[in-house]
Amino acid sequence: MKSVYVYKGFERFWHWTQATLIIFLALTGFEVHGTFHILGFEHAARFHRVGSWMLIGLVVFAIFWHFVTGEWRQYIPTTKKLAEQIRFYTIGMFKGEKHPTKKTEVIKLNPLQRLVYLGFKLVLVPLTVISGILYMFHKTIDRNDIVVVSDFSLESIAFWHTLGAILLMVFLVVHVYMTTTGHTPTSNIRAMITGYEDLEEDEETAKKE
Ligand code: HEM
Repeated sequence: MKSVYVYKGFERFWHWTQATLIIFLALTGFEVHGTFHILGFEHAARFHRVGSWMLIGLVVFAIFWHFVTGEWRQYIPTTKKLAEQIRFYTIGMFKGEKHPTKKTEVIKLNPLQRLVYLGFKLVLVPLTVISGILYMFHKTIDRNDIVVVSDFSLESIAFWHTLGAILLMVFLVVHVYMTTTGHTPTSNIRAMITGYEDLEEDEETAKKE
């Protein structure tokens, strides 16, 4: 095993800030929804709006970072070893089998992670953020006295936004469980905090050293 710098500074900042903001937005959003009462409706709605602008800012920076660094390539989907990876998560790991794919500095994601994270970035986050923006500007009147969003009913916007929020919560629970399936239960979480992870060494490289 060799300690490898897998997650760069911005990547870790973005990951933990996004996680914190999504949890914060879920807490304030579900209070607005009426699921529970902690802050009171007015405060929850105000905090939700502040948090949502922070998330929009973060998402813009993250998109920029993915393209500038070329890290977007990590998410190109592949079916190669996808079936093996699913078999590992459902059967193999409970029998103590080895991971079917190797994680390296350049290939951080296994085929299943690529698909799931791509769906998260291209479907789940846009669904929640776009419906949230429509929610925010629904019936807002601009300088020219024109209603900004009036083509969609508030009920349908609220439905899609709440659906996105529920799916994000499902993602969060499954994601946290999956992080415990690395070499040790905490190795993946530690890597996202420190940036370093113990990865299997290439046999060729190991021989040379
Ligand atoms: C940029 C992202 C987001 C924007 C612009 C946004 C915007 C909004 C707005 C404007 C409302 C109506 C309440 C109000 O007037 O403040 C709302 C409600 C809500 N938001 Fe968000 N939000 C965003 C992200 C999220 C996230 C990430 C979650 C949860 C994970 C979430 C969960 C909810 C829920 C559950 C409601 C209540 C829906 C209802 O019952 O009508 N929001 N959001």
